[in-house]
Amino acid sequence: SSSTSYEHLIVSTPKPGVGLVTLNRPKALNALFTPLIIELNDVLKKLDSDKDIGAIVLTGSERAFAAGADIKEMKDLTFADAYGTDFIEVWSDMTRIKKPIISAVNGYALGGGCELAMMADIVYCSVGATFGQPEIKLGTIPGAGGSQRLTKAIGKSRAMEVILTGNNISGKQAAEWGLAAKAFDSAQECVDGALATAEKIASYSKIAVKAAKEVVNKSQDLGIKEGVEFERRVFHSLFGSKDQKIGMSAFAAKKKPEWSHE
Ligand code: CAA
Repeated sequence: SSSTSYEHLIVSTPKPGVGLVTLNRPKALNALFTPLIIELNDVLKKLDSDKDIGAIVLTGSERAFAAGADIKEMKDLTFADAYGTDFIEVWSDMTRIKKPIISAVNGYALGGGCELAMMADIVYCSVGATFGQPEIKLGTIPGAGGSQRLTKAIGKSRAMEVILTGNNISGKQAAEWGLAAKAFDSAQECVDGALATAEKIASYSKIAVKAAKEVVNKSQDLGIKEGVEFERRVFHSLFGSKDQKIGMSAFAAKKKPEWSHE
């Protein structure tokens, strides 16, 4: 995998096929400023094109996944600056990564931190994590997808309450509401759990995994009829892959499949 070194990230491959990206700007509780996002986009693109990588885990520290967009960086922006540069649009690059990303959330995931966590395909957290969209307390609103993704994740009434009050959501509550797939007892268990899930995903056909992620994501944008049609077409297309033949023949022969990733 990549040998580039980053100023605000730690990158490793702790399990076969798994890239671990750790946000590392401890002095600012991993507040998300442009240089960090540029590094994050760079490493995600490299991992996405790395043939040895099958899944990615994104985490922060025990104290903070990320405490939001960097308030000090953006406080003096004008409308013209923000609109003119399409401020924060570059954060969405993460949603164009084809391989599954699991966010392992410990500590604060506030504002842009919560939004970044929700851009991942699977959210894991520890029970003591703190999610929230506190932008209303700063005289503004979520700007990196929070109003849309939180509402899809937990429903309109709960999302309205969270966004209009700025009240936080505990990790325990996040899992009960479906914002997170699981809440673990400790930060270490959360990261280990994410790595184990990523390792499992990385053990499957990369073609099938990519297709599965693509069709699930379509459900967020399409109505049920178009979504089911899209799924069926992609399902049909996988009969053209070697891995479908390998997987189904292995089942019939009672053998373990050896994926070709083709
Ligand atoms: N931006 C810039 N710096 C931040 C930051 C942020 N979002 N969050 C924390 N920091 C900095 C603090 O300024 C502080 O720096 P100094 O030591 O230089 O003063 C350092 O990180 C440690 O933070 P605290 O001393 O505040 O730590 P705490 O434990 O007392 O409080 C906290 C932790 C509750 C998370 C508090 O830091 C906080 O409320 N942070 C801001 C959370 C927030 O409002 N996030 C939303 C940002 S807006 C946004 O994200 C817009 C969008 O939709 C994209």
